[in-house]
Amino acid sequence: MIPRPSTLLCRWTLTDDSGAAVSDGGEALRGHVHGVTPVWAALESALDAAAEGDTVQFTEERPFGEPDPALRRSVPRGEWPGHVPAVVGPFAFRVDGQVEPATGHIVAVDAEHVHVDQNHPLAGRRITFAVEVLRVREATPGEQRFARPLQFPSDLLHAVPDDPVLASVDGLCMVPPHPWGQGLYGRLLGDAGDAIELGVGLGGTSLYLGECLRGTGRRVWACDTFAGLPAPDAERDNPYFVEKLYDGTTPLLERLRAEIERRQLDEVVQPVPGRFAVGLPGIPEEVRFSFAHLDSDLYESVRTSLEAVWDRLLPGGVLAIDDFLHPSQGVARAMADFFNARGLRPVWHVVFPYGVYCIKGAPEWPRSLRTIDGNTYSFAALRSDAALVAEVRAAVARAWPGSRGAQRAQALLSLLEQPADQPDDLYAYLWAMADFFGGIAGGFTEAERI
Ligand SMILES: C[S@@+](CC[C@H](N)C(=O)[O-])C[C@H]1O[C@@H](n2cnc3c(N)ncnc32)[C@H](O)[C@@H]1O
Repeated sequence: MIPRPSTLLCRWTLTDDSGAAVSDGGEALRGHVHGVTPVWAALESALDAAAEGDTVQFTEERPFGEPDPALRRSVPRGEWPGHVPAVVGPFAFRVDGQVEPATGHIVAVDAEHVHVDQNHPLAGRRITFAVEVLRVREATPGEQRFARPLQFPSDLLHAVPDDPVLASVDGLCMVPPHPWGQGLYGRLLGDAGDAIELGVGLGGTSLYLGECLRGTGRRVWACDTFAGLPAPDAERDNPYFVEKLYDGTTPLLERLRAEIERRQLDEVVQPVPGRFAVGLPGIPEEVRFSFAHLDSDLYESVRTSLEAVWDRLLPGGVLAIDDFLHPSQGVARAMADFFNARGLRPVWHVVFPYGVYCIKGAPEWPRSLRTIDGNTYSFAALRSDAALVAEVRAAVARAWPGSRGAQRAQALLSLLEQPADQPDDLYAYLWAMADFFGGIAGGFTEAERI
């Protein structure tokens, strides 16, 4: 008997009435969270009675529904995301801020339109399923919440934090850096000076920092257009982020203000609406920062943020920057230009999964320790994050034996279990996280990769 909830690794074989194998090559390895993922009742009850190693068989009349004409659409070429190839075949791309990728099939392409069909390829057909249960393990809290199996490193991104305050801003923070980035930043606030966030989105990070500073008399300055991203710079931002991204239907500023009031953080979190400017209008000149979080995705936005914040950061203060190890690269380019112009070579502490921070005034490392991009990197912050190391260890233990997720998780664990930094750590990290970085561009489908 398979208990609920359990995460299963199954081999699915789908056949149609002729007995021919259909769909995705007919046979596929897939995960399933038994008792949580919505699925056909016949499969649910068969799995209840099954055990690891069994094959469960059942037939459904129209298991993938009827074809819906509304899901066949012609998208004007100008509206098709630039980073997704407009070629006939399946497509999947990640829409920022959404967990599920947009998926479907491109059925035709002409000069004006990309014609897509988002119906399931087997819609309208009677199908027989043979589901062989290869492995059974306990479902993680993240899997129960998302109702799908999470492979490394998605399982880490959707870990449910133990800290109730951190958990309380879940849903108001981008994932990532939630929860690992925020957890770390809360410990890096120092004991004097204010905090500032440039790029606030729904406000979760500013609110969390505000919770950490409650009662100290220190503030969090929360700077954003509150109307989404400005236009990217085609020469400095690789295609990914798009103008107006994060411009939700609810007015963001009103929403943040309501949340500040609800949490009674009025004295702590100060929204600063408007486009970033070097003089930081809206923030008194004498204010100095012990912590700055730059999370605005684009070259120009990050460059302006750096010019605005660096000279007002206290010695020993922390500058954290998100999206540094991101294929869009605008953030990394802005940082290179800024720090080269200042003749500075900070040591970048990696924040899981793609942020970094440096400590103003900390000793630089020798040139011999530079990596391919000319920077030096430390993984000390990740190594000393006991909760993260424990979660990576758990990821290794639960990964399907022999799978690519198991190999990559083990690589990350080995890096974190090293006693000290090694010059080539960045390369090990990039290898361990390769599915994540590839997934950002390709549709975040690594959860399905076995
Ligand atoms: C990724 S979101 C921030 C997410 C947030 N830090 C979190 O942890 O959930 C990026 C934000 O940067 C803001 N932004 C980008 N460039 C900006 C600029 N030049 N001026 C003001 N806001 C900007 C966007 O409006 C957007 O809300």
